[in-house]
Amino acid sequence: MTQNLAIVGYGKMGKLIERLAPEYDFEVKARFVGGTNANGQGLSHQTLRGIDVAVEFSTPAAAPENIRRLAVLGVNTVVGTTGWLEHLPAIREAVAHAKTGLVWATNFSVGVNLFMQTVAYAAALFAKHVEYEAWGWEIHHSAKKDAPSGTLKKLAEEMSTAGYARPVSLSSNRAGAIAGTHEIGFDSVADTITLRHTARSREGFARGALQAARWVAGKKGFFEFKEILGELN
Ligand SMILES: NC(=O)c1ccc[n+]([C@@H]2O[C@H](COP(=O)([O-])OP(=O)(O)OC[C@H]3O[C@@H](n4cnc5c(N)ncnc54)[C@H](OP(=O)(O)O)[C@@H]3O)[C@@H](O)[C@H]2O)c1
Repeated sequence: MTQNLAIVGYGKMGKLIERLAPEYDFEVKARFVGGTNANGQGLSHQTLRGIDVAVEFSTPAAAPENIRRLAVLGVNTVVGTTGWLEHLPAIREAVAHAKTGLVWATNFSVGVNLFMQTVAYAAALFAKHVEYEAWGWEIHHSAKKDAPSGTLKKLAEEMSTAGYARPVSLSSNRAGAIAGTHEIGFDSVADTITLRHTARSREGFARGALQAARWVAGKKGFFEFKEILGELN
C-alpha cells in the first residue's frame, strides 16, 4: 500500500529521498525548506494532513524544533540530520509524551552500521594491548557543516563502550564532493591496523532512511537505526 511522505529539509538528501521514494511505496506529498519553515513554523496539522511519515534531513540548528513539532503533531519521523545530539534526551521525552514513533541515525547506511559493529569488536580486542594507540579520521564534501561528523563521534563512543578506555585522536577534513569516508586505526611500534568505510554515493543513506520510514509507519517508540537493522526488508 502506498503511504504519504513529508520531506523536511529538501536539500541534497531530501531530493534524493524523493527520487527513490516510489521504490519503497511512498508518495511525497509535502516538502519543507528553510524559507517555508523558519523555526518549524511551516509544520502544522494543515500542511501535514494525511502524512504517514516524515523524513527530517535539514540542519543541526533547525532539526530539534522540527522533530519536536512533528511529534506534537502526531507524525512518525525518521531523523537523519546530524549535530543535534545534545538535545536527544529532551526529544526522546517529547516523542514518548506524544506517543509517536521515531528512528534516528547519524548514518543510515547499512554498511556503516555493520562497520560500527566491526570497529567495536576491534576496539575490545585492542583494549587489552596498551602498546596500541588509536585514531579516528573522516573526510566529507566541503558543504558539510558539522565536524567531526556525527558518525566519527559515534564510532569513538562505540569504542569506549566496547572497553577501549585510552584516548582516540579524532580529526576531519572537508573538501570537494566526497560522500563520506571514515577510518579507525590502531598503531604500535611494530605495525598499523586500519579499518575504513568509504561511501560511494549518498544513495546508501537515502535507501536506509526509506527502509526505516517503511518500518516506523504506524509504530510507537524511540529507536536508533542499528536497533532495527535486523527487522528491515
Ligand atoms: N544520517 C545520515 O545518513 C545522513 C546522510 C547524509 C547527510 N546527513 C545529514 O543530513 C543533513 C542534511 O544534509 P544535506 O546534505 O541534504 O544538506 P543540504 O543539501 O544543505 O540541505 C539542507 C536542507 O535543509 C533545509 N532547511 C534549513 N532550515 C530548515 C528548516 N527550518 N526546516 C526545514 N528545512 C530546513 C535547507 O533549506 P534552505 O536551502 O531553504 O535553507 C535545505 O533544503 C545534514 O545534517 C547532514 O549532515 C545525514
